This record gives sequence, C-alpha cells and structure tokens, in this order.
Amino acid sequence: MQTQSAMTLLPRSERKWWRDAVTYQIYIRSFADANGDGKGDVEGIRSRLPYLKKLGIDAIWITPWYPSPQNDHGYDVSNYMDIETDYGTLADAERLIKEAHEMGMRIIVDIVPNHTSDQHAWFQAALKAAPGSKERARYMFKDGKGENGELPPNNWNAVFGGSAWQRVTEADGKLGQWYLHLFAVEQPDLNWENEEVKSHLKDVLRFWLDRGVDGFRIDVAHGMVKAEGLPDVPKEDPSNPDLLAAIAMPFWDQDGVHEIYREWRKIFDSYEGDRMAVAEAWVSPSSRIARYLRHDELANSFNFEFLTSQWDAKNLKKNIDSSLSAIQEVGAPASWVFNNHDVVRSVDRFDLGLGSGSQETTLQRQGDPAKLDIARGTRRARAGALLMLALPGGAYIYQGEELALPEVRDIPEDRLTDPRWRMSNYKDRGRDGCRVPLPWNTNSAAAFGFSINKDLKPEQAWLPQSSWWGSFSVEMQDTNKASTLNMYRAALAIRKAENGLGDGPMSWIEAGDKIIAFTRPGNFACYVNFGNEIALPESAAVLLSSGALNQGKLPTDTAVWLRLP
Ligand code: NOJ
Repeated sequence: MQTQSAMTLLPRSERKWWRDAVTYQIYIRSFADANGDGKGDVEGIRSRLPYLKKLGIDAIWITPWYPSPQNDHGYDVSNYMDIETDYGTLADAERLIKEAHEMGMRIIVDIVPNHTSDQHAWFQAALKAAPGSKERARYMFKDGKGENGELPPNNWNAVFGGSAWQRVTEADGKLGQWYLHLFAVEQPDLNWENEEVKSHLKDVLRFWLDRGVDGFRIDVAHGMVKAEGLPDVPKEDPSNPDLLAAIAMPFWDQDGVHEIYREWRKIFDSYEGDRMAVAEAWVSPSSRIARYLRHDELANSFNFEFLTSQWDAKNLKKNIDSSLSAIQEVGAPASWVFNNHDVVRSVDRFDLGLGSGSQETTLQRQGDPAKLDIARGTRRARAGALLMLALPGGAYIYQGEELALPEVRDIPEDRLTDPRWRMSNYKDRGRDGCRVPLPWNTNSAAAFGFSINKDLKPEQAWLPQSSWWGSFSVEMQDTNKASTLNMYRAALAIRKAENGLGDGPMSWIEAGDKIIAFTRPGNFACYVNFGNEIALPESAAVLLSSGALNQGKLPTDTAVWLRLP
C-alpha cells in the first residue's frame, strides 16, 4: 500500500484557501449575456453569482476580460488595465469582485504575459519603429536568415500551426525583420529580457490586486523565457509543438521563468489575504511542475498529466501518485483538472480516448466520433468528478462540467472562430466545441436563457447553440435529484463538511488493476470502478455515488464516496 499519510492535517480554517479551493472557470464570452448582444459579460457573471454560490464553489477564475480584438478570444490583450467594452466596464468588474467577496467566493483573473495582441499600443509602435529601437526591443524582433533575410530566424512552429515567425514591412515599404508569435500571428511574443516588459507586467498585477482580486491564472506560464540564442528545435522537420511537448523545447519551461515568479510572489505577499497565482504550465514530468510551486514561487499549477490521462485505472493512479510525490517535496498542494476551454470535454474524451500525440486536446486528434457513446462518457465524467473531488488538494472545474456538457461537434464550419481552424489550413476544428454558450433554460428563447435578449435565437449566440442544447440546461437539471448538477452540488457540500477532504493525507487501498480506491481522514473512502461490478466494503455507509448502485454493488464506470465503519 502506498500512502501519503506523512502529512499532518490542519483544521480547514487554518489551511491557506488555495490549498483546498474548488475553483470554477468562467469562459466569460459564453457564460451569461446581460446586455443582449449574444456574448457573455461581467454583469452576466454577477447575475449568476447565486447559482455559483448554490453550486458550492470557493473561487471563480475568469478568462481574459481585457480590451482585445478577440482573435483568440481575449488571450490577445490590447490593454491589460481595462475591461473589454463588449464585456462591461472597470466599475462593473469592481462591483463583481466586491459582491463575490460578500458572498464568500474569491476571484482569480487571467493574466497573459507571454504575448500581447498585435493591436496593443506597444506592438503598433514597434511596427512603426526601426529595427534596433526601444519599441522593437519589447518584442522578439529578429533579422531573417538567408541572403536577404528572407528565411525565418529559426525553425520554430506556432502552436496553432505554421511558422512561429512573421515578416513585417518596414517604413521604406520593403520586407524587413521577423517577429516571433508562438501562438496566432496576432499574438506577438513579448521579450522577457526587457526591463520595461518586466516592470509593466508587475504594474498590471498591482493594478488588479488593488481592485481586490485574490489571484491570477498565468497563461502559458512556462513560455515567457526563450533559450539563449533561440536555437532551432532538434528536428529536421519540426511539426507544430505540443504545449505538453514530450521533448525539451527551447521555448518551454526554461529556468529563467522561475526568476519572474519569485519577483511576482513578493508582490502577492505584499498584499493581505493570501493572494496567489496558478500556473498554466504544460510541463512534464511532475518534478518539473513542482519547480513552479516552490515556497517562493506560485501557489498552484494545473495538473495537465491528470487532464490528459486516459480513462484507465492504472494510468490515472500512476499520474496521481507521481504528482503527489513530486509536489510533496516542495510542500505544495495538488491542483486537479479534467476540463478547460482548450480541451475536448471529458464526457467525450473519457469515451473516445485521446489519440496519438501527447497533448491530444482538439477534436482533430480524437478517436472516431462515430463510436462515441455519450451515455458511457457521461458515466465516466461523473465518476471522474468524484475521483477528482476526493483527492488531496484543490480542483478546477470548467463551466458546463457540472452539467456534463458534451463537446459540440456540429458547429457549422463557417461559424468556427478558433484561430487553430484557420492556422491549421482548415484541418483542425479547434476548441470552439467546448466553448458554446451555456444552456440555462430548456426553452430555446433567449438562446436557452444564455442571453437577456428574448429575441436572440440559439444560432445567433456568438457561437451557435445546437437545437439539442437545452436538454442539458441548468433548468432541466435543477430539480432532478439524479442530475449531474445535483451530484456536483452534493459533492461540494460533503467536501466542505469533511475536514479530511481537500488538502491533507490519503492512503491507497489496493483493490486490483481496475479499481482506484483510497481513504482520507475521517474514515472516508472513495472507490472508482473501471472494470466489472464489485462488492463494496461491508458496513460502509454510502455518502454519494456517481450513478446508481446495483443492490449495493458498484457497477463499472461508477464512483462512490463511503464512510467506513
Ligand atoms: C492558453 C490559453 O488557455 C489558450 O486559450 C490560448 O489560446 C493560449 N494560451 C494562448 O494565449
């Protein structure tokens, strides 16, 4: 039996909030539309705070809400210190933060330090300025290779497809330097060796901390620093890099990023109230993740090895074990996650599997959709949720996960907006399928209750909602005891009441290759069955299960929370 029982268990009130928190990710454009334009907004979030409170989450992470031309839906920021007009105003944001706090929920905002939008004043100035200028020095401008600089500076490709370098036209009308964009062409990479960049981003952190945010989700946290000399990637024919690259890449996980976080941590700690940051660092193995969580760096880092695990007991258990032992060494809590706005929803993923690469997040890389069994995927996603919420540490859930939303596969091609679609030469449909505006009501009016605008048809929301979308709605699930929504509500309520859940020790129960089973303090046990039906320990009381038990036995693809005698 492997155990994590060396840890001591403090009462919940004495643990730092981010060691236990269940954080709900809001993709702002798709959550709730309070001004009737078919896009979500800040007031939409505020109007749904009671829903989130009732769900039982501790914190809300809001995806980028800054002014942006929306080429990557906010991950292309044109001004870090304001709110996108379509989404509201700074005053709205301040009101939201205040009300969330009054209701006992924390707010985490998304910070995008690796790149800006090409519409950011800095980049516009850089385009107008000459090579070697201070304006260009804020970004990664380089001369090209070849006789006339006609070849890109190195062989790096962009994550979304194609070369990571774009050539610009200089003031004299001739083609000139190249700039680096690890993502879309409209997302030029900042130069993190530049002092002005470093100091501006610190001002941005203070700007939002002053407005009361409790933390930051750091976009591409492993990407800001590039290897000295920008060496070619070690391949003859570099394919598009995976965020979770299997081999070391000169643009991911460089040691220099940790210096940035040590500086940032000092800023967080200079404010009251345990301010924190969570890294979006697609790094592997777990020992590399742990480096982001050293005592003077960040609080959380998403566990993407967990997210990219197959629905397989051995594989999941191995990943849980390796993550827990790696972070235990630095005294950090785990941050489990199965869904976000970049990956195919777990309902589909747990059924179809992952495909052949390492990141395996977009539809193009999934198994054969004709074989998709939504009912089985839903059973697994529900069981996975109880697994995740019983593990030591905190958890991140993505809007709609609590409704067991499946991936939307029938968005018409001419409505796809993800830059991945365009940059893959229209081969990879990208991530729009997990970003469709939430169905709040069963009736299709007002885009299934997503919008305040009664005349807005489901297909008129910024991403069209399919006709079947309402069958997954909040309204439909609210009073149905067996719904996924009510399973999440029950799980989060139990989690809150059990001091032994969240941060703290666990012990594995050896129950064979097809079962994940473990105990937590307080005689609590979680069993997840990946194989044939099994009997549960005698005299154990069932606290919650992800599906119906069969005369006290645990069916396949089902999880149960127990109180052991
Ligand atoms: C990760 C974000 O989650 C994703 O949505 C975005 O496209 C890239 N970073 C680039 O900012």
